[in-house]
Amino acid sequence: MASEVSKILFFGGTGYIGSYMVKASILLGHPTYIYARPITPQTTPSKIDLHNQFQAMGVTVLHGELSEHEKLVSALGQVDVVISVLAYPQVLDQLKIIDAINIAGNIKRFLPSDFGVEEDRVSALPPFQAFLDKKRQIRRAIEAAGIPYTFVSANCYGAYFVNYLLHPHDQRDDIVVYGSGEAQAVLNYEEDIAVYTIKVANDPRACNRVVIYRPPRNIISQLELIALWEKKTGRNFSRVHVPEEEIVKLSETLPQPDNIPVSILHSVFVKGSLMSFELEEDDIEASRLYPDVEYTTIDQLLDIFLSSNAPKPGSAALE
Ligand SMILES: NC(=O)c1ccc[n+]([C@@H]2O[C@H](COP(=O)([O-])OP(=O)(O)OC[C@H]3O[C@@H](n4cnc5c(N)ncnc54)[C@H](OP(=O)(O)O)[C@@H]3O)[C@@H](O)[C@H]2O)c1
Repeated sequence: MASEVSKILFFGGTGYIGSYMVKASILLGHPTYIYARPITPQTTPSKIDLHNQFQAMGVTVLHGELSEHEKLVSALGQVDVVISVLAYPQVLDQLKIIDAINIAGNIKRFLPSDFGVEEDRVSALPPFQAFLDKKRQIRRAIEAAGIPYTFVSANCYGAYFVNYLLHPHDQRDDIVVYGSGEAQAVLNYEEDIAVYTIKVANDPRACNRVVIYRPPRNIISQLELIALWEKKTGRNFSRVHVPEEEIVKLSETLPQPDNIPVSILHSVFVKGSLMSFELEEDDIEASRLYPDVEYTTIDQLLDIFLSSNAPKPGSAALE
């Protein structure tokens, strides 16, 4: 299947990471479909623009709700590979996709909406743990149904977190540091996450496996990231540390779902959960699997932020 051109259907293709993936799928030559909610009078002009952009690129847009079983089965019947990049509130709705994949019977690979920490190897504060448990539930349902899968741990969306941590478009002189700032994280540029994902979805080596996106040059702590940004901009920033206890307290006192982002910050940037386990010989890491893909290093990503093409803060929730 590596060299075959498969037809790929996206759920959540109009979302933050979804739109990168849909574009990568087209660029890599795959007939590309999205299953998206119908346009209504409430649909925003930017969303309508995106639907039009996709159609102009040759994407087949199939309209439907996740609750419309017959439509789901019919959409799945037209494709080979399914990639879900639905947002967190829709995670359990993926059970409907799993049911429909079982009925359709033709899907060669399903990638559920993971794309963050490796949820089978990491534990977190309760609000984030509940989130991870739902993603785990989907993984177990896919395995139980015998659907060929690839589970992806993409680690941090790079441009999204550079925007979140450094505020590169603002003129402020201080930068917030979560905890000591020394824990190592992994920041991958969204365009590379998209390319890796289309590749693994079509790669027999990744069938029924977990793939981790941990390119060696994208491992960095908050303090190192700030220092690199200072070097590139010639500016000096004061570091405003938020102690771990304060973050934990917020995770206990904020209402749902506001307690989730702080719990994610705690897991990723205070506890260093992305780097909390070693990669073993038989683990699949994306940059080792595709040495021919020249991934964007963090250094290069910061250069993009200095250029006129700087990625603006996206809509991705801190999930
Ligand atoms: N690793 C990281 O740094 C990181 C960061 C953020 C998110 N994530 C993960 O990435 C995945 C995707 O997140 P995202 O932020 O890209 O998502 P997003 O931008 O919020 O996109 C959500 C998608 O879900 C669709 N959707 C929303 N409500 C729906 C509903 N009721 N029925 C059907 N579709 C619905 C949206 O469709 P419309 O366009 O019609 O609204 C959109 O296509 C999630 O698993 C999330 O946890 C990871």
